[in-house]
Amino acid sequence: MARILVTSALPYANGRLHFGHLAGAYLPADIYTRFKKLQGEDVIHICGTDEHGAPITFAAKKEGVSPKQLVDKYYRIIYDSFERFGIKFDNFSRTSLPLHHRVSREFFLNLYQKGYIFDKETDQYYCETDRLFLPDRYIEGTCPYCGYEAARGDQCEECGRWLEPAMLLNPHCTLCGGTPVKRKTKHWYFDLPKFEDKLVEWLQSKEDWKPNVREFALGWIREGLVPRPITRDLDWGVTVPLDEAKGKVLYVWFDAPIGYVSSTMEWALKQGKHELWKDYWLDPQTKLIHFIGKDNIVFHAIIWPAILMGHGGFVLPDNIPANEYLLLGKGKFSTSRGTALWLDEYLDKYPADPLRYTLAINLPETGDTEFTWKLFIERNNELADVLGNFVHRTLMFVHRYMGGKVSTPVDMTGEDLTLLRKVEATRDEVANAIDRFQFKKGIKLIMELVREGNRYFDYQKPWVLRKEDMGRARAVMGVCTTLIANLSVLVAPYLPFTGERIKNMLNLPEYRWDDIGRIKVDTSVGEVQPLFQKLKPEDIP
Ligand code: 2FM
Ligand code: ZN
Repeated sequence: MARILVTSALPYANGRLHFGHLAGAYLPADIYTRFKKLQGEDVIHICGTDEHGAPITFAAKKEGVSPKQLVDKYYRIIYDSFERFGIKFDNFSRTSLPLHHRVSREFFLNLYQKGYIFDKETDQYYCETDRLFLPDRYIEGTCPYCGYEAARGDQCEECGRWLEPAMLLNPHCTLCGGTPVKRKTKHWYFDLPKFEDKLVEWLQSKEDWKPNVREFALGWIREGLVPRPITRDLDWGVTVPLDEAKGKVLYVWFDAPIGYVSSTMEWALKQGKHELWKDYWLDPQTKLIHFIGKDNIVFHAIIWPAILMGHGGFVLPDNIPANEYLLLGKGKFSTSRGTALWLDEYLDKYPADPLRYTLAINLPETGDTEFTWKLFIERNNELADVLGNFVHRTLMFVHRYMGGKVSTPVDMTGEDLTLLRKVEATRDEVANAIDRFQFKKGIKLIMELVREGNRYFDYQKPWVLRKEDMGRARAVMGVCTTLIANLSVLVAPYLPFTGERIKNMLNLPEYRWDDIGRIKVDTSVGEVQPLFQKLKPEDIP
């Protein structure tokens, strides 16, 4: 069986996680991995924190702490938030680990020895006040392409083009605001143009990719690839493994994706199976899937594959299902003013699944979408009214009028069978959707099945049957409870906490995806607790 290696973008350990992060990469990656595990596939989900580069040193300076203190603090916060939100990783590493440094240096040397990396001396901006060269977000100026005035040293956020500090007009140091001077310094460049033909051929073969990802990458290449500097004058990061490069570190975007490899190695080491990572990375049959947000497309669809091609022996990405942006509301809910869009703060107040539901049904799969608290309340209440209500009314009925005893009926009528047959069909449609990275479609199909369950309940009128035909009332409740048992597995990729709670309420064993449709019940239901709490507008800050 081919292995599946799922990665999600390594978040910078320079801040907390917000809802936008979740909708971009982590929630879809988690749904996908949980689904594949339920299917019994050999799949692992690999991630970790990205702890290098100007994003870290810059944020550390702002917080008045050392880079090490900063990454230690945010590693913890990020790790805990993922755990509480039910984003499950097989390994969650850190790029500051010695193992990662070693692997990154090996990649550099391998490419260097093959002639894919060369050095060049150029004039770079230097700030005499702060006494440092100004790469990336240390320098801002006007973009030479679009005129945007706050373009950074590595990229213009307005037009998306890659820049180098020397290209900026009216440059200034973002630390002191002063005007930098030019100084000579040597850097090492990754010879990207050497991979142009191979990249184009490879990308063109990816006909099943999302058009936004494939077209974007091909369009980028069409504009012309140039060698990219992959070293920086910083004192925090992976040191360059060359004597003449003293005091320089690797550019964060060179070492970060290598973090996928080193994190997989760490996962193998933790199990005492040192070579196990090779079964994933070095086997051409492996399906390597990178979940990312759209701002990471160029790095994952062009530079990283080129690094892998240059190195040789490694599997190339099978798919890169990048999402667009989740826009975090307006006005009151802006990230700068509001505090409530941070995942850890959310989790202090509310359970994970209503947010997982809201985000899943609103994922920016083909275009940007927006998050507002109003939408969250609506979706939370929808979950309570549809799924929560179906489970609650059924199990309460069983508890109250049937002494808690319920089992899948032996004789079922047409309507019973019609409802339960829909379970299998939905299972396959949901599987199909998730396999195509259409996560919104999957959750909508599941909710449609639950709505069908509610319609069945209403139509059968068990509250009337109870007085007239207890046998039939039992059968109807048996059908509803059977549906609920099957739902516990069907919802699990999206709503893992809810799936687990239902499983416990019905004393169900572990099931697999293929069991959905065939799961039967014969159990007694104890105390019934509502699955979700409805919210009113005033409940939100
Ligand atoms: O954009 C970011 O947050 C980066 N830290 C993502 C890195 S993804 C990978 F290459 F590690
Ligand atoms: Zn620009």
